[in-house]
Amino acid sequence: MTDLTTVLESRRSVRAFLPRDVPRETLRGIFERAQRAPSWCNIQPWRVYVASGEIRERFVAAMLAAAKGRGPEPEFPYAAEYPEPYDAHRRACGKALYEAMGVARDDGEARRRAWLRNFVAFDAPHVAIIGIDRRFDLWAAIDVGCWLQSVMLLAQAEGVATCSQASLGAYPGIAREHLGIPETIKVMFGLALGYEDPDAAANKCRTTREPVDANVTFSG
Ligand SMILES: Cc1cc2nc3c(=O)[nH]c(=O)nc-3n(C[C@H](O)[C@H](O)[C@H](O)COP(=O)(O)O)c2cc1C
Repeated sequence: MTDLTTVLESRRSVRAFLPRDVPRETLRGIFERAQRAPSWCNIQPWRVYVASGEIRERFVAAMLAAAKGRGPEPEFPYAAEYPEPYDAHRRACGKALYEAMGVARDDGEARRRAWLRNFVAFDAPHVAIIGIDRRFDLWAAIDVGCWLQSVMLLAQAEGVATCSQASLGAYPGIAREHLGIPETIKVMFGLALGYEDPDAAANKCRTTREPVDANVTFSG
């Protein structure tokens, strides 16, 4: 048993992976234990489609081609804008990543190359696409959020790195075609899973957090 705080503090988004599969039993064990995640009325709404091997290859190849050719088509619309203080966090997160990768602010071509890495899931050997029943919305999405962090922490405890990726939900039609996702499921986002490449520049990126009082108000 690994201490929860240690796992929580060491988890981070990993954006370069070793070309080595995670054993199926390990992957399965992570998702199996994440089934314990809470949900309103215990409806357990997360629907998860995990692709490895050739299916993953074909999926990311199609995603990359789509991203090069057209704008995103998400089923859950992206935020139109990020007002302050959120935009400052958003910009700091992008800056930390590009700085770690040695990508200059004004190097549009390098930024585009870095952005396109999203669509090959940063070369992670396993990609999960997550959705919910089309008839649900906010509350089921909250349940999925609880599940997502559970998966990421369980993976971290197993030495398996992850990156949540809204970008992998950008072309739901491609996910449907390659992963067999039915129309009744609304595609939300993806999750890259694999072993971290510790030498990759992208993985030197670290994000910060606000002090607790920025987010939490105690009364009484
Ligand atoms: C729902 C969700 C979607 C995300 N989408 C992306 C994405 O498309 N590409 C990416 O590189 N990171 C993505 N991230 C990762 C965030 O950028 C990252 O969690 C945040 O900057 C905090 O960094 P940390 O995970 O390393 O602590 C996403 C995270 C979440 C929770």
